Amino acid sequence: MLILGIESSCDETAASVVEDGVSVRSSYVASQHDLHAEYGGVVPEIASRAHVEAILPAVRSALRDAGVVAGDLDAVAVGHRPGLIGSLLVGVAAAKALAWSLGVPLVGVDHVHAHLYAGLLNDAARPGPPAPATAFPALGLVVSGGHTSLYELSSWTGLRRLGATIDDAMGEAYDKAAVILGLGHPGGPNLDALARTPGANERAVEFPVSRLGGDSLDFSFSGLKTAMLYAVRGVPQGPRARAASPAPAPLTEGRRADLAASFQRAASAAVVLKLGRAVEVMAARGERPRTLVCGGGVTANSRLRRELEGFAGREGLGLALPPLGYCVDNGAMIAGLGYELLRAGRASGLGLQPVPTTAC
Ligand code: KG4
Ligand code: ZN
Repeated sequence: MLILGIESSCDETAASVVEDGVSVRSSYVASQHDLHAEYGGVVPEIASRAHVEAILPAVRSALRDAGVVAGDLDAVAVGHRPGLIGSLLVGVAAAKALAWSLGVPLVGVDHVHAHLYAGLLNDAARPGPPAPATAFPALGLVVSGGHTSLYELSSWTGLRRLGATIDDAMGEAYDKAAVILGLGHPGGPNLDALARTPGANERAVEFPVSRLGGDSLDFSFSGLKTAMLYAVRGVPQGPRARAASPAPAPLTEGRRADLAASFQRAASAAVVLKLGRAVEVMAARGERPRTLVCGGGVTANSRLRRELEGFAGREGLGLALPPLGYCVDNGAMIAGLGYELLRAGRASGLGLQPVPTTAC
């Protein structure tokens, strides 16, 4: 079964053709990073206008790269929530028009849910047998620029949220910390690269690892971000400060790399801590996850990937970690999860609407 997946929720216009839910025949992503770079973040109106220009070329490229024509498609899937409403509208309108004109089913996919599915995708760049069918129950982790959440999955369509960030998403904290370090947009990958500078000392600064309540499965990254700010600029001194804080160390190249490495260590530790707690919470109910499924832009992070592999190994869990190209937003994860939704009889009508919030 060939499904076209369309993704336009934020600043990537993406289209992909996926066969039987897991074999990626093509994945085309037109990024708008250059358009937003001078503003240091995504400008919604610029994003939606750019999607209008990019959407049809993206679909044409995905079909061409897959070696198929529109008439070969069995269904059209589209990320219809969550996201910037003007951006979502463009993808949803294009998907509806295509599905209607081809006479094939349309399926609306939740973008956050789809990130969880990305670890199942395989393509020519990831040779070998396809990832085995996911063993349930599974533990799910989404770490992206807009979301940071933990889930328990009983199937690909049975999802229960265990916890989520109470302030910044992990990717958002990365992007803001990168700005504090003077790195360009998008900050996450740049901070990751800086942290990998040979000789960088990840123990140079003891950044806080948020725990929240003793049994909380929620995340918090704003304290970590603020700690980075204070490490670079110094702790603000109020009139009633008891003792003057020491001046921050000069921001040399070496210090910047140390700060980046220390930040990565604390950020990854916070994720692993909550994954461990989630396993305990399930164990208290007499359940045990069999797989860890992960996705979202921050799963491209070199440090986090190592930590996730280590955690899954220690806990004896199968690990579905997306290939690097499918961590950030893409159309393949939309087509992949769309396949599972269709199999579960959850096609959408042509009345499908874009929705700014997630249902997950
Ligand atoms: O999943 P995604 O493409 O978009 C959302 O759905 O939000 O995630 C984008 C986020 C950005 O915050 C970006 O800085 C972060 O993922 N990111 C990374 C890395 N690559 C992307 N963060 C840390 N290290 C990376 N290597
Ligand atoms: Zn995303």
